[in-house]
Amino acid sequence: MKVLVVGSGAREHAIAHALLKGESVEEVTVAPGNPGIAADGIQTVNISQSNHEALITFIKDNNYDFAFIGPEVPLMNGIVDDFEAHGIPAFGPNKHAAQIEGSKDFAKKLMARHNVPTAAYQTFDALEPARTYVLEHGAPIVIKADGLAAGKGVTVAMDENTALEALEDIFVDHRFGAAGAKVVIEEFLQGQEFSLMSFVSGTDFWVMPISQDHKRAYDGDRGPNTGGMGAYSPVPQISDETVQRAIDEIVRPTVEGLAQEGTPFTGVLYAGLIDTKDGPKVIEFNARFGDPETEVVLPRLTSDFGAAIWNILHHKTPVFTWQKEGVTLGVIIASEGYPGNLVTGTPLPHIPADETQGQHVYYAGVKSAEETHNLITSSGRVALVQVHGKNVTDAQNTVYTILDSINLPHMFYRHDIASKALQ
Ligand code: AMP
Ligand code: GLY
Repeated sequence: MKVLVVGSGAREHAIAHALLKGESVEEVTVAPGNPGIAADGIQTVNISQSNHEALITFIKDNNYDFAFIGPEVPLMNGIVDDFEAHGIPAFGPNKHAAQIEGSKDFAKKLMARHNVPTAAYQTFDALEPARTYVLEHGAPIVIKADGLAAGKGVTVAMDENTALEALEDIFVDHRFGAAGAKVVIEEFLQGQEFSLMSFVSGTDFWVMPISQDHKRAYDGDRGPNTGGMGAYSPVPQISDETVQRAIDEIVRPTVEGLAQEGTPFTGVLYAGLIDTKDGPKVIEFNARFGDPETEVVLPRLTSDFGAAIWNILHHKTPVFTWQKEGVTLGVIIASEGYPGNLVTGTPLPHIPADETQGQHVYYAGVKSAEETHNLITSSGRVALVQVHGKNVTDAQNTVYTILDSINLPHMFYRHDIASKALQ
């Protein structure tokens, strides 16, 4: 089969790499991809993820069997609807179902209707009532811009002033533009966070091994929220019982609810959960693979990825089998300044990851230098180094031995990915 992957980051690199590992897929092209993906020997084509028409023409002209949509923005913009209108099977939710990520308000109302445990919340579209609510409820409290703000629209305010400042940012300074026209104010949930992703086809779903992201920029969960600084899978401190509760109380009612309400979901449903003392509760849903979770979960897949997705797209039962032993761990290399003002344009050294040990480097924010064509940094998250280990300590030793052996000027990484598993 031939598959077109839409997107340009480390997640899409991992999706393409996993597809190529399976026997049924001969060819993968990533649109637009990035020069790091190309340097890894995977085809890329310079068509933007927002140019649905050009993608459709390319897919038809080159006889791709299906498309896999990586990022949220094209999903929200109806890329699956557009592809399907041209008879192209595309893995991802349509525009309507993608609202589970695109609108926190949509997600919260769906959860309320189907008794899915989540933080108590209220939605506001003006500053004054939002201020009053914060003053009544006090801190800690969570302020979220409705709509998409690339993971940066959330303020976890440990004191009232921070919460009030976040509201001003949204309503007065319009920091998130249209995304901030509405605000969701949420109860603060205490507990460890984990990500549970499932392949979904209507009311059927197949869960993946759980993973844990690291949202804060610096060691010890300090600094601003980012798109994610590293992840590992599985997460030993989250019990099987908690995962089973999450499946029964969260994933199943959500996918069944979407189907019942006439917006069946096809694609990857990502549940961002907190393991509270009252059981797992939802902090967010995404309508796609998580990044960087994908880069540590997909390497654990031992069955044919492309065949499974093709089966789902043709209403047949897919097979997914997963590695049972050990831990997969990934650390993001970020540009200095991330997630604020970035220093970019820095040459990236060769990263000595050993394929024979199941290690891999997935590229995100890189471009080719004009003269040398070597990779240079071009945005916040540059690449992710992924390794396997017998356990968390072993995986940490392996990944940090690799990272500490190279020189990364104007870049940084967290030194404590997966350390919560050891506390
Ligand atoms: P989100 O973009 O919704 O994933 O939020 C970003 C981060 O803020 C999450 O990964 C959590 O660490 C934190 N967060 C979001 N909502 C809550 C909540 N209700 N309680 C505690 N922490 C939260
Ligand atoms: N890692 C969180 C996300 O992909 O939104």
